[in-house]
Amino acid sequence: MIELRHVKKVYSANGGETVALDDVDLTIEDGAVYGIIGLSGAGKSTLVRCINLLERPTEGQVLIDGEDLTKVKKKRLLEIRRSIGMIFQNFNLLEQRTVEANVRFPLELAKVRRTTAAKEVRYTREEMRQRVGELLELVGLADKAKAYPSQLSGGQKQRVAIARALATKPKYLLCDEATSALDPNTTQSILGLLKNINETLGVTIVVITHEMKVVESICTDVAVIDRSRVAERGKVSEVFSFPQSEIAKELIIPNLIRSLKSTGGKKLRLVFNGEISDTPVISGLALRYGIAVNILYADTKNIDGKTFGHMVIALPDDGEKAELVKRHLAAQNVIFKEEL
Ligand SMILES: Nc1ncnc2c1ncn2[C@@H]1O[C@H](COP(=O)(O)OP(=O)(O)O)[C@@H](O)[C@H]1O
Ligand SMILES: [Mg+2]
Repeated sequence: MIELRHVKKVYSANGGETVALDDVDLTIEDGAVYGIIGLSGAGKSTLVRCINLLERPTEGQVLIDGEDLTKVKKKRLLEIRRSIGMIFQNFNLLEQRTVEANVRFPLELAKVRRTTAAKEVRYTREEMRQRVGELLELVGLADKAKAYPSQLSGGQKQRVAIARALATKPKYLLCDEATSALDPNTTQSILGLLKNINETLGVTIVVITHEMKVVESICTDVAVIDRSRVAERGKVSEVFSFPQSEIAKELIIPNLIRSLKSTGGKKLRLVFNGEISDTPVISGLALRYGIAVNILYADTKNIDGKTFGHMVIALPDDGEKAELVKRHLAAQNVIFKEEL
């Protein structure tokens, strides 16, 4: 488990000070794929770099499985860091090394304990060869072992970086905008790989991103960072259905917010979470009560006859009719909320 407790980070540069994180509390449970979203400059990269103490917090604690990294000795810190892999937007591969030599690199630096009693020794050549083989197999690059980074596509480079990050079998993987330099298809394939790593290897993953689609496709939990503070956090299913804070609304449902602001009168925001289909619900209003509601906004998609997404409808001015609409929706188990 990763826990940040009252973490504050102040950068001092050129006589000025920047508060990049302020009183940040975050708990990331084992097995989660935890998304961290926010605008550029919000403090996301600083936050993720505090998790492995690449940045030392000015105040507060960083607990990894209960151990406070801000308190441990250098040697212990290096040990714990080996349980935390990291990947970046720009891949950070060693250009002079082949793919397999990139993946081997952390193994060359690390030592292992072969039995609990034994002291730490270096990996043997054979162990490294075998481990690199497994890793390249895992990321689907077994045929690129001898290639150089410059010969690879962006997606392939990120796969090498993932293999390298996993070399020492970390329990955690931190991803800072790992798909931001990739096209949509490549992004999806990398996200698929990360999900697979989470599910099959049980690696807990922290995903920093400014792309909401990334969170929707793989994250279980999400925190929204706004101007160095946590604005909101929770299960993705909840935060993405009903974002509470202004910043979360702007990030997650910007078009919906725009449509709410563009018209007067009372409105209902409907959330479809796959339990029911939208069409019968809306047409039912017309058929049963003769109320044709005006749909102001819809961002719904149909998957196997079930509807997912949001809709905004105008409530009839007539209070009685408005009540009927709400009763009808409630009876259909539609989740809705009144908006002005
Ligand atoms: N090494 C640094 N020195 C000084 N200021 C920094 C440094 N790194 C980040 N900052 C500042 O801290 C704030 C948060 O930055 P960052 O964590 O990179 O945000 P994000 O990743 O959300 O874009 C920004 O105002 C940024 O300019
Ligand atoms: Mg950043």
